[in-house]
Amino acid sequence: MRTWTLRGTTTSYVVGVPDHGRWAELVAWGPHDGLAPVAVVGTEHFVPRADVEPMEYAVRGVRYTSPVDLVVSGSDGSDEFRPVFVEAREADGLELEFADVVRIVLHYRMVGDAVERWVSLRNDGPNEVVLHRHDSAGFVVPGGNTVKYLWGEWNSEFQQASVTLPRGRFTIGSAQGITGHSYSPYLVVDGDVAYGVQLAWSGSWEMSADVDTTGLVRIQAGRTSSSLGITLKPGETWVSPKAVGACSAEGTDGLARVFHEYERAASRKRIPKVLYNSWFATEFDIRAEHQLELARRAAGIGVETFVVDDGWFVGRSDDTGGLGDWEVDPAKFPGGLDAFIGQLKDLGLDFGLWVEPESVSPTSQLAKDHPEWILRTPGRDPILIRNQLLLDLSRDDVAEFIWSTLDRLLSTYDITYLKWDANRPRLDSGDQRRDLDGRVVANLYQILEKLRDRHPKVSVEGCAGGGARVDLAMASLVDTLWPSDNTAPLDRLRIQEGFRTGFAPHLMSSWVTDAEGTHDGRERSLDFRFHVAMAGVLGIGADLSRWTDDQLKTAARHIEQYKGFRELIASSLVYRLTTGVQYVGAPRSVVFLWETGDGNVRGTLPTRPRRVPLAGLDPAKNYRVGNETYPGSYLLQVGIPFEGPADSHCLVVEHLD
Ligand code: GLA
Repeated sequence: MRTWTLRGTTTSYVVGVPDHGRWAELVAWGPHDGLAPVAVVGTEHFVPRADVEPMEYAVRGVRYTSPVDLVVSGSDGSDEFRPVFVEAREADGLELEFADVVRIVLHYRMVGDAVERWVSLRNDGPNEVVLHRHDSAGFVVPGGNTVKYLWGEWNSEFQQASVTLPRGRFTIGSAQGITGHSYSPYLVVDGDVAYGVQLAWSGSWEMSADVDTTGLVRIQAGRTSSSLGITLKPGETWVSPKAVGACSAEGTDGLARVFHEYERAASRKRIPKVLYNSWFATEFDIRAEHQLELARRAAGIGVETFVVDDGWFVGRSDDTGGLGDWEVDPAKFPGGLDAFIGQLKDLGLDFGLWVEPESVSPTSQLAKDHPEWILRTPGRDPILIRNQLLLDLSRDDVAEFIWSTLDRLLSTYDITYLKWDANRPRLDSGDQRRDLDGRVVANLYQILEKLRDRHPKVSVEGCAGGGARVDLAMASLVDTLWPSDNTAPLDRLRIQEGFRTGFAPHLMSSWVTDAEGTHDGRERSLDFRFHVAMAGVLGIGADLSRWTDDQLKTAARHIEQYKGFRELIASSLVYRLTTGVQYVGAPRSVVFLWETGDGNVRGTLPTRPRRVPLAGLDPAKNYRVGNETYPGSYLLQVGIPFEGPADSHCLVVEHLD
C-alpha cells in the first residue's frame, strides 16, 4: 500500500491506496504520538471486502451494502462504477485521482489540526451522467461511539445533545435551502480522542454517523441530493463543498479550539467594534430624531458603530412590505440618510445598515417589475413565509441585481457595517434540473466575496432569522455571525455555549438587551448580561432611552473594560469552565463566571463558596488575580472562589513569569 501523511500542528492524518488501486482508505488519524490505526482484521462474510474497509470515499459499485458517498447513474441505466487509482499529486495538500467514466479527485489540505476534504468529479464519458448522492467526504473515526450534535429552532439555536450509538446510523441535515436552525452541520464523536466534522455549506445538507458491525464510526458529510440529481454533461466538472475534520486529545472542548483556529485562519482579524443596534428598541418604528436620541446615549457609553436595523426603506412599516425596494424612506429620514450619517459622525459613531437582499415582498415594486425573478415551482403558487418570497438567486440577473443594490448603497452612503439577514427557508423547488441549491449558494458566496473585495472597509454580520445560517462557509465570508434572536440572559448563555463548540468567539455577535427570559425566566443582573455579551463581539440592543444614569454608568464601565481585552477574546484559546469560560491569551487570561442558579438560588440552604478551577495555565508558573498571586497548579486544581451577591464575575488573570 502507498501511504501519504498530512501533518498538522499536533495531529496527523494518514491515507493510503492499496496495491489493487480500487479505493483510498484511512490508515491512521490522531495526535502525532498516538496515531490510532483503523485497519480491519479478519475475514469478511456475505459482503464484499470493500464494505468493511475504512474507506475514504465509497463509490456505489465498489461498495454495496455499507453506506456510500457517491452514486452516479449513466445512460446505460447502471449506477455502478469501478474507478481505479491513477495518480497522487502533492502540491498544496494532496490529491488522489481515480478514473472510470467519472474521474474522481479526492482533495486534502491541512490547516492547523483541521483536515479539509472535498471531491471534484469530471464526466469523462461521451454521455450525460447523473449524480444522485455526492458527499464531500467520509471520515472514519478511530474510536468512540458517543455522537454529539447541535440542534435547535428559532430562538433556541445550538442546543447540545448526544446519542450513544453502539451500532447503526444517526442522521441530521437541512432540507431548508439554508443551513437551518434545526441542526448545525457539525458531528462530533467523543472517545479517548474527540473527532469532529463540519460541512462548509449554507444550502441543504446531510451528515450521518454510521457504526459498522465492528464498532467503527464513519461520518459522511455532503450536500443533499435533489430527487432529480445533478446532471453532468460530457467534459463537465462538479466540485463539492469542503468537509472539515479535526481531532483533539482534549475532548470536545479541545476540538472546539481546533475549529476556532481554523476559522481564525480565514478571518480578516478585525478589532471587534462595539455596536448599537436599534431593532429591539424600535423595531419598524424608525424615526431619524428618535434614532439620534438613542445614538447620543450609545456614544455616551462608548459605542463605536450605530446600526439601523429593518424598517429604513420605503414600504417597510411592518413585515408585510418593502423587501426588494432598497431606497431610503424619506418619511423616516426627512433630511436624507447622508445627513443622518453626518450627525452620527459628529457623535463619533460609524454607521451600519440592515439588509435582506435575497427576499422580496409580494407587494413591492420589485415584485411587480420582475415577477420572473421570484422563485416558484412552475404551475404552483410560491410559498409565503413571514409575508415574503425569495428571489431566484440561481439566476445570474438576480445575482447581478443583489450585487448592484448593495454596491450602490455602499458606494452612495458612508457605511462601515452591513447586517445581512435572511428570514425564511427556501422551500419552492423551482426547476431542479438546474441544481437550484448549488447555484443559489454559489451566487450567494460570490456576492459575499465581491463585497469583501470591493468594499473592504465594510464589516459584514451574517444573520438568518437568528442563527439559521451559521456554518464554516459563512464563517469564512463574513466577520461576525448572529447566533440567535434570543438575547435573554440565561437562554443566551446556553446558546452561546453550544455555538462555541463549533464557532470561534470573534464570530459570535452578542448584544445586551432588555429581553426577559424567553425560556428560562429567572432574572439576572445587568453585569450578567454584559458579561454574556462581552464573551463574544459586544453589542448593545437595549432601549437606552429608558436606562437610568446608573445603568448607563454600568454600561460605560463594562464597555471600557471590554475594549481593553476584546482583541484577546477574538484571538485566544477558549476553555470551558464548570460554570464559565476562560480566554487564554498572552500575557493574560480573561475569565467569565456565571451563577446560573441551579438550586438554592436564594441561599436558604447551608452552602460553601464554590470554587471554579481554571484551565489552560502552566502549573509551574505564577498568576495574579486582583492583588493576589497564585501558582498555576493552585488555580488549575483548587480554583478561584465564586462568592458574594454578584451573579457573574469577570476576572483578568495576569500571567507572570
Ligand atoms: C430577524 C433578525 C433580527 C432582526 C429582524 C428584522 O429576525 O434575526 O435580528 O433583524 O429579522 O426584521
